[in-house]
Amino acid sequence: MKILGIESSCDETSIAVVEKNEVLSNIVSSQLLHQEYGGVVPEFASREHMKNINKVMKQALQKAEVEINDIEAIAATKGPGLMGALLVGLSYAKGLSLSTGKPLLGVNHIEGHLMANFLDYENLTYPLLCLLISGGHTMIIKVEDFGEYEVLGSSVDDAAGEAFDKGGKILHLQYPAGPVIDKLSSEADREFHKFPRSNVKDSEFDYSFSGLKTSLYYLVKKKGREWAEENLNDLCASYQEAIIDTLQGNFFRAAEESEIKNLVIAGGVAANTRLRNVFERRAQKEGYDIYFPSLAYCTDNAAMIARAGLENYRRDDVSPLTVDVDPNLKL
Ligand code: KG4
Ligand code: ZN
Repeated sequence: MKILGIESSCDETSIAVVEKNEVLSNIVSSQLLHQEYGGVVPEFASREHMKNINKVMKQALQKAEVEINDIEAIAATKGPGLMGALLVGLSYAKGLSLSTGKPLLGVNHIEGHLMANFLDYENLTYPLLCLLISGGHTMIIKVEDFGEYEVLGSSVDDAAGEAFDKGGKILHLQYPAGPVIDKLSSEADREFHKFPRSNVKDSEFDYSFSGLKTSLYYLVKKKGREWAEENLNDLCASYQEAIIDTLQGNFFRAAEESEIKNLVIAGGVAANTRLRNVFERRAQKEGYDIYFPSLAYCTDNAAMIARAGLENYRRDDVSPLTVDVDPNLKL
C-alpha cells in the first residue's frame, strides 16, 4: 500500500512515497531565500511552494519508480504551520485527490514528527514518551497509541529550535542556526559560560527558553561583538549545553514519573549531535530504550507525513475535500 505524502507547512516543500515503513522516495526542497531575512517570510514561503511543488512531485514519483495510479491515498499536512504555505500543499493534494479519485488524508504535522520514528523502527511499541523538539514546538507527550496523547509539558515561550535560531541571530549566524551551532560546538568548551537553566513556576514539566536567549543578548551587548566573535565556538557550545540540559531535566523526570520505558525524540532539534549523545547516555544509564529518527526524518519531510497518513487511513480517518488548513492545529 503506497501513500503519497505532501509537506508544506513552513519552508520545506517535500513530497514522498512511502510503502508501510519503507520510504521509496522523499524529496525535500529547502527554501534558501529566507536566509537573507534571518527567518522565514510567510508570503515568500507560499510563493516558493507554488513554484516548486510540481517539480518536487515529479521527482518523488520518478525516484520511487511509480505513477500516480500506483498510489493508494494522498496525505498532506493540514496544520499547524503557516496559513499560506499549508494552503499550497493541501490544495495541491485536493486537486490530486479530485482528479484521481484517491482518498485524501489531512495530517497533523506534529503527529508526522512523532511518526517519523516508525519509519526507522517499525517494531516500536506503545506506550511511548515523546520529546518533540522543533522550530515551532517543544512538548513532552505521553503516547498511549496513535491518536491517544497526553501533553505533559510544553514551552511557555520560545520552542527549543527557536532558542537555537534566535541565539544564532544574536551571534550573527546563518538561519536556521541549529545545525550551525551544532557544528561550531563540536570541539568547543561547553563550560565557557554558565547560561541559565530556567524552570517554569508552579509547573512540573513545562519549559521556558526566552530567558536563555535574553541572557545571551545581554552578554554579547556587555562584552562586545568582537569578543563574541573571538569566542564564538565556546559561546555556541555553552549556549547549546543550556538548551540540552533544560530539555533533559524535565523529560527524564517525566519518564520516571510515567514509568514508560520507550522514549522517542522527534523534530528538527532531534538532529543535534550533542543532544543525541547526552540523551543516549542518560537513557542507557537509567535503563530506558531511546529512539531518534534518522537525520533526514528529524527536520521537516514528507515521508513522516505519509507515515502518519497511513495510520489515519488504517483507521478510516479519510478527509473530505472540504477539509481546511488549521495554522494552530493542536495534537
Ligand atoms: O522540525 P523542523 O524542521 O521544523 C518545524 O516543524 O519547526 O525544525 C526546525 C528547527 C529549526 O529551529 C532548526 O534550527 C532546528 O530545527 N535544527 C537543529 C538542528 N537541525 C535543525 N537544532 C539543533 N541542532 C541541529 N543539528
Ligand atoms: Zn516540523
